[in-house]
Amino acid sequence: MNDIFKQTHKNNIPTVVTAFDTQNEEGNIENINLIESWQQVNKQVAQACAQAPRQHNAVTLLAVSKTKPAEMIVTLARQGQRDFGENYLQEALEKIQVLREQPECKPIIWHYIGSIQRNKTRDIAENFDWVQTLEREIIAKRLNEQRPAELPPLNVLIQVNIDNEDSKSGCLPAELPALISAIKHYERLQLRGLMIIPAKANTDAFARTKQLFEDIKIEHPELPQWDTLSMGMSGDMGEAIANGSTMVRVGTAIFGARA
Ligand SMILES: Cc1ncc(COP(=O)(O)O)c(C=O)c1O
Repeated sequence: MNDIFKQTHKNNIPTVVTAFDTQNEEGNIENINLIESWQQVNKQVAQACAQAPRQHNAVTLLAVSKTKPAEMIVTLARQGQRDFGENYLQEALEKIQVLREQPECKPIIWHYIGSIQRNKTRDIAENFDWVQTLEREIIAKRLNEQRPAELPPLNVLIQVNIDNEDSKSGCLPAELPALISAIKHYERLQLRGLMIIPAKANTDAFARTKQLFEDIKIEHPELPQWDTLSMGMSGDMGEAIANGSTMVRVGTAIFGARA
């Protein structure tokens, strides 16, 4: 499957948003392979839940669609995939626009999982349902001010640099109390939990993050929506689920390698 996608999308780039051919969609080999990969990942998630053991619906699958075309998102949305994650703002805004105009698609839940500079906050606040990469109070303040009144509060996760790596974004665990105390007062933000990208040689990052998550839940009973622990990607989703992840962010295993 991946080879077919790589070839096709290499030729289609630079634009990630291309015209739809809904007539041919069902019989298209690329779509069949994409759907099979997605079903396989769903099966892996279900198996990891059964082994943990956790409820089968305890874990949300977030399909990380960065660099992948809008048609692929439509294909999976038609199968019932609801949550999609995007890292690059401009690319994401194009896709969100295109998909809003697809009446046959159920509404998609869009998660912003890229780094956030100050000049991006308005577009993020106006177009996304979740932000998983909050790490600074100034960004939280801006998102809160810029979230449109007619939309529900923006769901936010704090990204934690759990292995204290220079190359990674996120606040340090020691910075969490101050950040949480600030964010919880913002009425247009709904603080839902934590997100991590552990180090490659991660041994116990998932368990340490789960502990942090549970400690915060006990310390902050005033946060009833504190319910989301976003950890686990294509290579480590099983381990993350075994350690209490409630949301896995999976790109490669669903869509194939990125160009
Ligand atoms: C924040 C984040 N989460 C998840 C993923 C998905 O990773 P993978 O393709 O290994 O599943 C990416 C991909 O770049 C990412 O940036």
